[in-house]
Amino acid sequence: MRNDLLSSEDQNVVPPIVRRLRIAILVDDQATNGLTAEHGFSLWVEADDQRILFDTGLATALLTNADRMGISLNQTDHLVLSHGHDDHTGGIKDVLSRSPDVHVHCHPAAVLPRYTKRGDQLVSLAMPAAARRALGDMPPERLDWTTGSRSLFPGVGITGPIPRLAHFEEAYGHYLLDADGTAVDQFEDDMALWLNTSEGLVVCVGCCHAGLVNTLNSARRCSHTSHLHAVIGGFHLLRASDERLQCTLAALTELRPDLIIPCHCTGNRFVEALRLEFGGRVSAGRAGATYVFGGSIDWEKIDDENRYKPLVCLC
Ligand SMILES: [Fe+2]
Ligand SMILES: [Fe+2]
Repeated sequence: MRNDLLSSEDQNVVPPIVRRLRIAILVDDQATNGLTAEHGFSLWVEADDQRILFDTGLATALLTNADRMGISLNQTDHLVLSHGHDDHTGGIKDVLSRSPDVHVHCHPAAVLPRYTKRGDQLVSLAMPAAARRALGDMPPERLDWTTGSRSLFPGVGITGPIPRLAHFEEAYGHYLLDADGTAVDQFEDDMALWLNTSEGLVVCVGCCHAGLVNTLNSARRCSHTSHLHAVIGGFHLLRASDERLQCTLAALTELRPDLIIPCHCTGNRFVEALRLEFGGRVSAGRAGATYVFGGSIDWEKIDDENRYKPLVCLC
């Protein structure tokens, strides 16, 4: 394991951990158990006594799937937005109207206009106007316009903007910030959620527009934790070059994660490459899958129907 990313001071820090962590995929491009699939992403994270919603999907899948999975969105303590694209922010209004006490964490650039090129057309991918209005109507003390790394509670935090250090993780030129098509979107708002467990670091990512390797290394630095236990989310390698896929795979091999859960915009080519390299340590994500982490689960309190095993997908 490379510790060179952590300063010698950081390596002496003993980071706090969450004792119990359960992550359920609420929205994904794939679904199981009769849930709704949608081009979007959302995770429900229960970390000790705190509940975090990470992204909100594109449209209606969030509410439908939460209902079917028995997840009460009105219990959300924190809403973390990985970035401003509409497939991650479409459910913001619904969540805020149901969760009166939620704290929202979002980079200011998440509300900017955004576009992508499809042939000659520019298509808007901006956060929906209703979502922007809902954020604007929030009490300021519950809306954290995050511009840097920060802790949410002991053992859990967000990276804030992610330094671009890996030479092969260049921005894709077809994402834009203006309708003239001149300003390439550098995704200043892109960030990840990290959670420290007794087994190592668990990282939740949205689309990884900053690059998967940059994102994981940023989370390792922010959490003061070297060992990557698991990563879950969209890796955005659908249209990546073969060279980039190989470089990403090589960097991941060096990080030696125990579990990789590719979702959403990862792309089949990279999922297959992951399976060849990591075998059973890869679990292709889909809405309805649930993962439990942490070495201190009280097995006696979990009924038979919901008996969890660490690193087992419950879909
Ligand atoms: Fe996405
Ligand atoms: Fe995105």
